[in-house]
Amino acid sequence: MTARTRDIEKAASVLRAGGLVALPTETVYGLGANAEDPAAVARIFQVKGRPPSHPLIVHMGGAEHLDDWVEGVPATARLLAEHFWPGPLTLVLRRGPRAPLEATAGLETVAVRVPDHPVALALLSAFGGGVTAPSANRFGSVSPTNADHVRAELGDGVDFVLDGGSCEVGVESTIVDATGEIPSILRPGGVTGEDLEAVLGCPLAVPSTSPVRVPGQHPSHYAPRARVVLVEPEKVVAEAELAQELGHQVGVFLPASFADAPVKAHAVVTVPASLGAYARGLYGSLRELDQQGCDLIVASLPAEEGLGLAIGNRLRRAAGPRPSETGSR
Ligand code: TXA
Ligand code: MG
Repeated sequence: MTARTRDIEKAASVLRAGGLVALPTETVYGLGANAEDPAAVARIFQVKGRPPSHPLIVHMGGAEHLDDWVEGVPATARLLAEHFWPGPLTLVLRRGPRAPLEATAGLETVAVRVPDHPVALALLSAFGGGVTAPSANRFGSVSPTNADHVRAELGDGVDFVLDGGSCEVGVESTIVDATGEIPSILRPGGVTGEDLEAVLGCPLAVPSTSPVRVPGQHPSHYAPRARVVLVEPEKVVAEAELAQELGHQVGVFLPASFADAPVKAHAVVTVPASLGAYARGLYGSLRELDQQGCDLIVASLPAEEGLGLAIGNRLRRAAGPRPSETGSR
């Protein structure tokens, strides 16, 4: 038995015993529990410090399990599942009786996905059932994209960390409301709107017309300790230098087109020109700037196309008002 097979067997037995397992996926690491064990699911909320009103995603080993968790799968949802699974797409559909209300936060819909990571798929196959898993970070903070991030976030709160290396995609899955005739994006992520529309052969619906409410859309989320300020790309250098002169320890997300500009700041991350590489490194870079002692991060938004939408969504929310400013999160 290889070390990896042993780890997967161990993780499956922890899940069977009602424990929590951190598992790698292609997007970010998840904090997993047996979806059908209400006590284990309750512990996820407790360990993350997540309000019970935020529903979880049920991870399955393959699209053939859709009908186990979902009531009446529409043809468009099947088409998307066939095309994008395993992959960074989460479908919100009508909850079937097997999907427990604890995991769906009492909603009559359930979010399901098949992750595209060999270790996650091996675990799901060894375990046999569904695994509910939110990102394996404390509520509101930056999602983990490697096993060290998970340990730093959750420590003893998790019973076993299954190490599958660094996540390839780096931002969470795209969440699509597929309950209606025309799907709509509830959260941009690893599968782009352009990819979805190419498969559907029609434009997506605008989210505001979606009958599904998206719980957990707090203004501050995905946030490092440092404050995040967003400015136009050409103003990043000047803004960073001004804040540094004012006494901040400034971290800069330097746009690729300004990569050669000298910047007087505490720490500089050069943003890769490719959106794929930007997404892959985004959360790690935010953590890195925190670790280097930055108290302010100056960044700009990428173009609103392809993966740029998901990156922009995370940066905006990282820059959103913090709980101390709004009274809640
Ligand atoms: O890539 C991902 O999606 C990662 C990996 C671990 O799979 N998971 C993840 O989970 O990002 P989490 O819990 O951090 O975010 C899931 C979001 C929730 O915040 C909620 O907004 C949405 O999914 N969600 C879950 N169930 C839903 C439902 N029934 N209706 C609408 N939104 C739902
Ligand atoms: Mg999350």
